[in-house]
Amino acid sequence: MGSTSRSHGSRLEQKASALLDSAVGVGDMVLLEPLTEETFIHNLRQRFEHDNVYTYIGSVVISLNPYKPLPIYSPQNVEEYRNRNFYELTPHIFATADEAYRSLRDQDRDQCILITGESGAGKTEASKLVMSYVAAVCSKGAEVNQVKEQLLQSNPVLEAFGNAKTIRNNNSSRFGKYMDIEFDFKGDPLGGVITNYVLEKSRVVNQARGEHNFHIFYQLLAGGSNSLLAELQLDRETSAYAFLRQGQGTRVESVDDAKNFHVTQRAMEVIGFSTTEVRSVLELVAMVLNLGNFTFRDVSRTNGMDECRLTSTKGLQEVCSLLGLNEDVLEKALTSRTVEAKMEKVCTTLHVAQAHYARDALCKNLYSRLFTWLVGRINESIKVKSKLRKKVMGVLDIYGFEIFEENSFEQFIINYCNEKLQQVFIELTLKEEQEEYVREAVKWIHIDYFNNAVICELIENPQTGILAMLDEECLRPGAVSDTTFLEKLNAVCSGHPHFESRMGRDARFLNDTSLPRDSFRIQHYAGRVTYRVEGFMDKNNNLLYRDITQAMWAASHPLVRSIFPEGCPQRVSFKRPPTAASQLKTSVAWLMRNLLAKNPNYIRCIKPNDKQAKEVFQEQLVLHQVRYLGLLENVRVRRAGFAFRQQYGPCLQRYKMLCPLTWPHWDGEPRAGVAVLLTELGISKEEYAFGVSKIFIKNPRTLFYLEQARKQRMQELATLIQKTFRGWATKRHFQCMRHSQVVIARFFKGYYRRKQYQETRAAILLLQSCLRGWKARKLLKDLKLQKLQHEAATIISAHWRGYQARKLLKNMKLQKRRHKASTVISAYWRGYQAREELRRLKEEERRRRAVAVIWAYWRGMKVRQEYRKYFRANAGKTIYDFVIISITRRYLLRLRDNLPSSSPIERKWSAYPYLFLEEAHLQLKNLHHLWRCKVLRATFDDGRKAIYDEKLCASELFYNKKALYPLTVSQPFQGDYVDINNNPKLSKLFDLLQEPRLFSDVVYKINRANGKRSTRVAVLTAKQLILADSKSGQVKTQLSLSDVGGLSLSPLSDGLIGVHIKENIAAGWKGDFLINCNHVIELVTKMHRAIQASGDQPPPLQLANEFPVQFGGEEVVVRFHQATQRNGTLPACRKKSQLLEVSV
Ligand SMILES: Nc1ncnc2c1ncn2[C@@H]1O[C@H](COP(=O)(O)OP(=O)(O)OP(=O)(O)O)[C@@H](O)[C@H]1O
Ligand SMILES: [Mg+2]
Repeated sequence: MGSTSRSHGSRLEQKASALLDSAVGVGDMVLLEPLTEETFIHNLRQRFEHDNVYTYIGSVVISLNPYKPLPIYSPQNVEEYRNRNFYELTPHIFATADEAYRSLRDQDRDQCILITGESGAGKTEASKLVMSYVAAVCSKGAEVNQVKEQLLQSNPVLEAFGNAKTIRNNNSSRFGKYMDIEFDFKGDPLGGVITNYVLEKSRVVNQARGEHNFHIFYQLLAGGSNSLLAELQLDRETSAYAFLRQGQGTRVESVDDAKNFHVTQRAMEVIGFSTTEVRSVLELVAMVLNLGNFTFRDVSRTNGMDECRLTSTKGLQEVCSLLGLNEDVLEKALTSRTVEAKMEKVCTTLHVAQAHYARDALCKNLYSRLFTWLVGRINESIKVKSKLRKKVMGVLDIYGFEIFEENSFEQFIINYCNEKLQQVFIELTLKEEQEEYVREAVKWIHIDYFNNAVICELIENPQTGILAMLDEECLRPGAVSDTTFLEKLNAVCSGHPHFESRMGRDARFLNDTSLPRDSFRIQHYAGRVTYRVEGFMDKNNNLLYRDITQAMWAASHPLVRSIFPEGCPQRVSFKRPPTAASQLKTSVAWLMRNLLAKNPNYIRCIKPNDKQAKEVFQEQLVLHQVRYLGLLENVRVRRAGFAFRQQYGPCLQRYKMLCPLTWPHWDGEPRAGVAVLLTELGISKEEYAFGVSKIFIKNPRTLFYLEQARKQRMQELATLIQKTFRGWATKRHFQCMRHSQVVIARFFKGYYRRKQYQETRAAILLLQSCLRGWKARKLLKDLKLQKLQHEAATIISAHWRGYQARKLLKNMKLQKRRHKASTVISAYWRGYQAREELRRLKEEERRRRAVAVIWAYWRGMKVRQEYRKYFRANAGKTIYDFVIISITRRYLLRLRDNLPSSSPIERKWSAYPYLFLEEAHLQLKNLHHLWRCKVLRATFDDGRKAIYDEKLCASELFYNKKALYPLTVSQPFQGDYVDINNNPKLSKLFDLLQEPRLFSDVVYKINRANGKRSTRVAVLTAKQLILADSKSGQVKTQLSLSDVGGLSLSPLSDGLIGVHIKENIAAGWKGDFLINCNHVIELVTKMHRAIQASGDQPPPLQLANEFPVQFGGEEVVVRFHQATQRNGTLPACRKKSQLLEVSV
């Protein structure tokens, strides 16, 4: 193992050195020989000239600003550096980013990336590169991508509002930014938090020569559409705005403000700004620009006092319309000041300078608060929603160290921040490291370096520090000014080696003309900076007149209102707001704590020239930076020191798999384990040292080798685990399969057996059923046979019995026949005997009669002989008469005994015995009938008699003449069929009739014109026939019976009657009537009798199949015929010109 790993280690080492050596110059300054300032700079220059802008000092990256785009940041480059060891490839910022990201992801250590360097050195670009690399290498997915996009898009927004062109950097960050990117356990970004440090707000109102205001102002004017600018009350020309005219610098050619404006807008959109929010932000920017154009002048008032007023109201209206504020309120807020004293409000007018100061203060506050609001709004969008444990990577990009011609409070703050960062670097890379060697008892020769802690002390000491002095002066009552502050500094700090002032105690500077009297100078780690104290107090106080804050709060613009909460009258607080210095100290202290808690990764940016030119390498400038950054010391410490250190326990834990003696468990002390491990790996003893609690590894390549070996071993172990797992999984799978197979086999066997059993069972059942069938059939056959036999037997027995029976019957019949025969015979015999007897008796009788006859004849003959002489002449007639009389007498007697019943309808009559009696017989029959009728009539009363009279009359009229008649004979004539008395409809008719009614019935009058029927009530009285409407009782026709000239009927069974009217009657005669009456026989009979009773000759009655009628002077023939099919009981009438056909 030892020899293989050794050879393997040397191979990796060779590979690494080959990679490093293939670079131009020396990729890692630690390998630089000899190490002097010249060789250091030379190496940097050599690499810079070959576009190798990155060089390592161990794990620290030196980044030279190329000032030109390099083709080393493509996605391919990202892929190249992804998951590769730090020293494996040429130095690159991606390697640092990758190292930090992997440590964060794999070793669960929070990271921070500290990017330092002076203004224009490339810090912001470096931070963006780090962020874009991390975004590119972490996993993808809709949610993750959105988070990444939001994090990345925060840069353009913050740059637009927080960066500006300075003489050192066209895109200089004018604020400090620390961004915590938060990851989940897998290394996917969840979100982040941005912390911003003091924005250089004075730039809003004042820019040095050649410098510009914040980018957003130019972007808005260049990129805003005409309509947007019109709505924001803006002019496209930058020269129209005082705040953009001051620097007098021209915009950078390469910068496309219009395009950048759209980039900013798009970025805001991606982050999640609503359209209203974007609009509000732009309105605020427009307000600042317009406010900047406000100028003031003194106006004399009548009381002799001067009053400050706006020089021109131009722009006031625009600002106020954007703010949603009354113009007077704004003007008053800018030109006067209200002081509250003892519950009294005193309003004083500001003079012109104060008004300008107020305007600037308002603009600076508006803008800086807008910037803070923006950061807050971005944080709201990118903040992590889940409460899971997070890993954090902090990226620090603050404004770089800067020295201007005139440096003020802002530069003081910027440089203080850089001083503090340098302190962190020194603390961790130079001081702490060397102290650790001593602590760990590792052999170490101290390397000297400059520790800037004294400068930090000069600035931040809570009692004697410049910031403390400034605060003290600001809070001190009485006449305080920037001068008093400087005096105080001179008094307190002039003894400090890094503090210089003309007015101080140090005589060296008394005549130093480079140091103005109103200034002090600090020897910063990066150079001497002279600060003018003018404005220090003001800027530190950070005060804004309450009139202004209240006016802003009163505005209807929601964003403005929200960023001036102290303007709310209810919230008025007399507490001073914290000073800028104290705020800065607090936030810097927080930042330091935060950075020290994380694993630092350094990117040290160096500016190759101060012209922002590509391919220009100013050695002096670079050397200055290398010096103040302490890079040489850094290399020395690195070279003498150890690249890597780790506690024995974690180290053994991390690498124990590389040696069979330590893997899988080491039972002894961790230190001994690490020693065994390193020895076994064949790492030379010079490469490492044992500290008290940590192992120190000198060369990064050794670590690289260890990591590589570990990676490979991990792969082997992973393979082993995989193998074992796969074996186990396969075994499990096999066992599962086997178990499954057993289960399946069991089920199959069960199923098979069941199937077999079922088949066998089915077969058996089949056999059984066949057998049973066979048996049954056999049984059936037997039974059938038995049945047949039984039937046969039955039949036979039946036949036998039948035979027997028949035989018996035959016998019986024979017997019977015989009996009958005997009876017959006996009957015959007896008959014969009887007949014989009868004959004998008849013979005897005949003989007796013959004897009697003979006797009679004899006696007759004797008598005749006796009396012949007496009666001979009349004897024949007398005998004849006697016989006739005797016969007649006997006939009559018999007729008397056989007379029929006395009913006249009885037809029975006995037959006549002798022909000569026929006539007498018929006459007797007739006589008898007449007698019966007479007897019956004698029983009649008058009513009955009248009925029979009517019936008799009817008979006379219709008997054998009309087919209907026989049907009516048995029906009594009722007369009144309508019951007029009790019919309310016919009450009119009732009232009209005076005479007694003979007949009333519903009849149908046949219309003369068309033969159709209409219902009428016919009423017959002794004198007239009335036809009235059947519904209303309205009399339609009133016909005197004396006018009836004749009646015509058919011989058929119909009830139609033609009433012929005499033609001589009065005018209005319409002709004859045709009436259909259900009781026609009765009606005609009664009419006949009524006319007869009146003494008139009854009208002739005609019964014919065809008769003429007069219809209004026209003769119409009414012809009857028998219909084959009857439609109802009424006859159907059809009139055809002069023919009325009636089908009956
Ligand atoms: N890696 C790089 N490749 C190409 N150009 C670069 C690179 N780094 C920086 N630059 C150029 O240098 C300019 C200044 O860089 P940058 O803004 O990052 O400086 P800085 O250190 O942030 O300065 P300040 O402290 O003023 O903000 C950039 O605008 C860009 O033109
Ligand atoms: Mg920057």
